[in-house]
Amino acid sequence: MILMLQQIELEQYPTGPHIASRLLYTAENSFGDVENKVVADFGCGCGTLGLAAALLGADHVIGLDIDTESLEIASSNADDLDLDMDFVHCDIKNLKWQDRIVDTVVMNPPFGTRRKGADMDFLFVALKVASNAVYSLHKTTTRDHVKRTALRDYNAVSAEVLCELRFDVPQLYKFHKKKEVDVAVDLWRFVPKKDGEKHL
Ligand SMILES: C[S@@+](CC[C@H](N)C(=O)[O-])C[C@H]1O[C@@H](n2cnc3c(N)ncnc32)[C@H](O)[C@@H]1O
Repeated sequence: MILMLQQIELEQYPTGPHIASRLLYTAENSFGDVENKVVADFGCGCGTLGLAAALLGADHVIGLDIDTESLEIASSNADDLDLDMDFVHCDIKNLKWQDRIVDTVVMNPPFGTRRKGADMDFLFVALKVASNAVYSLHKTTTRDHVKRTALRDYNAVSAEVLCELRFDVPQLYKFHKKKEVDVAVDLWRFVPKKDGEKHL
C-alpha cells in the first residue's frame, strides 16, 4: 500500500495501522456499523479507513478528499487490493449531498491545527449525511467542546468517547524538534438524530 504525500496545510498524515484497525473493528464488532453498510471515508487520504471498511465487508465505500493526488493514491491502493470503491474530489465543507445517503462515516479529520475548526467542519457535515453513526478522531484536549457542540448544534443524539489513543503525528513543522509528535486523541462514536427524535 502506498502512503499519502504530506501537505502541511491539509494536515495530511496517515492513520497508523493500530488506530485504523481499532476504529474499524470497534465499528463492526461492537456496533455492526460496517458489514453490508454504505460507508463514507471523509478526508480519505491514501484510503486507509475506507479500504479497511471495504475489507470488512461494507456494501459500498466512498472516499472523499480535497487533494487529487491523495485520491489517485487511494484509488491505486484499492485496485491493488482488488476492492471496488468510489472516490469523490471535494471540499467536505461544500459537500452537497442531500439527505442521509450513507449509513456510516469514518474519518480522521484534520485536527484543526492549521485551520481552526477544520475538524468540526468535518463533523458537522458527517452528522448531516450519515444515518447510523459517525466514527471520528479528535484531540483529547477538545473533548468537552466536541461533545457539547455535537449534541447542541450538530444534530447528534449521542456522542461517546470509545477510547483514548496516542497518535504519532510526523514532524510537519520546522519548529518541531522531534521526528514525531505524540498526540492524545479520542476515538468517538456519534449517533445522528433522526427527524423528530429527542436527545437521549
Ligand atoms: C489527517 S489526514 C487523514 C488521512 C486518511 N483518512 C487516513 O486516515 O490516513 C486528513 C485528510 O483530510 C484531507 N482534507 C483536509 N481538508 C479537507 C477538506 N476541506 N475537504 C476534504 N478533505 C480534506 C487531507 O487531504 C487529508 O487527506
